[in-house]
Amino acid sequence: MEKDKESNFDEASLQLFKDLEEKNKRIKDFLIDNYRGLPSDPQVEEEAHEYFINNSVFFSAMAAQNASSMVTEFLYERLPSQSILDSYALKSKAGSAIKARLDAVEDELHKVIEEYSPKGEVLIGNFGSGPGRDVVDVLSKYYQNFSNIRAINVDRDVTALKRGKRIASIKKVDHLIDFVEGSFLKYEPEKKFDIVILVGILCALQSEVCVNILQTARGLLKEGGCIIASNVTDKMKEEDPFACYIMNWVANWDFVYKNEEKLKKIFDQAGYLWKKGFTDSYGFHFMGIGTPKP
Ligand SMILES: C[S@@+](CC[C@H](N)C(=O)[O-])C[C@H]1O[C@@H](n2cnc3c(N)ncnc32)[C@H](O)[C@@H]1O
Repeated sequence: MEKDKESNFDEASLQLFKDLEEKNKRIKDFLIDNYRGLPSDPQVEEEAHEYFINNSVFFSAMAAQNASSMVTEFLYERLPSQSILDSYALKSKAGSAIKARLDAVEDELHKVIEEYSPKGEVLIGNFGSGPGRDVVDVLSKYYQNFSNIRAINVDRDVTALKRGKRIASIKKVDHLIDFVEGSFLKYEPEKKFDIVILVGILCALQSEVCVNILQTARGLLKEGGCIIASNVTDKMKEEDPFACYIMNWVANWDFVYKNEEKLKKIFDQAGYLWKKGFTDSYGFHFMGIGTPKP
């Protein structure tokens, strides 16, 4: 195997190869060869794909629906699994970084709410929210007994929203959160937002598309409001290339990695002043915070 690629296998992938060696060596050999770009037999590839779909909640959810929040939720919840593929997803650096992103976004969201709350009401729009766990966690941790901090989770996936309602009810913040089914690109809210969150939305999109999305969101922000938007960075590809390969092979997930400079440019072109940026603890996601240019 090429030295540079081999040296970039994280512990989770090495464990996966060991487990697959025992269970199905053909699939292990296929994965390593395919990762290296060697030609493969379609029959073996189909066997491997079927194995991933039939033996993993995580990978079957990923293959079934592009960018489903079931995948992110699985990585947030981190329930132990008997499946060697699911364990790989949970232990991989890229998988762990998704949970680290949630933690970083929640910390920062709390700070931003604190910045805005002295002015009175704070309305948060969580666009492409999935269940909206970030908002639910922050509201339940800090603002359960406040009526002036409210959120609207917007997603086109009704199952994710139903799940969000359940989680919000369990965490006793359902009175603070509304759930709206539909595309946030066509959303016409009654009131403009103080804070808009776009996490896990831009990663697979070209910069021009991100600019359009951020422009649309800008129209829904109050003057002086802010947006928090995330994207995957080159560091993910450099430090966990095998996970990036697997996501692409199983589900055709193809990220457009954007570092701080690219994200800053997108914010600028979409009409935002850059306020600050932050990363998850792995540095695999970069989050920008911007405010509409006056
Ligand atoms: C990868 S998930 C991220 C969920 C959540 N933001 C998080 O950070 O965990 C992406 C979500 O965006 C939703 N989504 C993508 N484009 C959307 C659009 N135009 N309107 C509404 N929802 C959208 C998908 O349905 C999915 O639930």
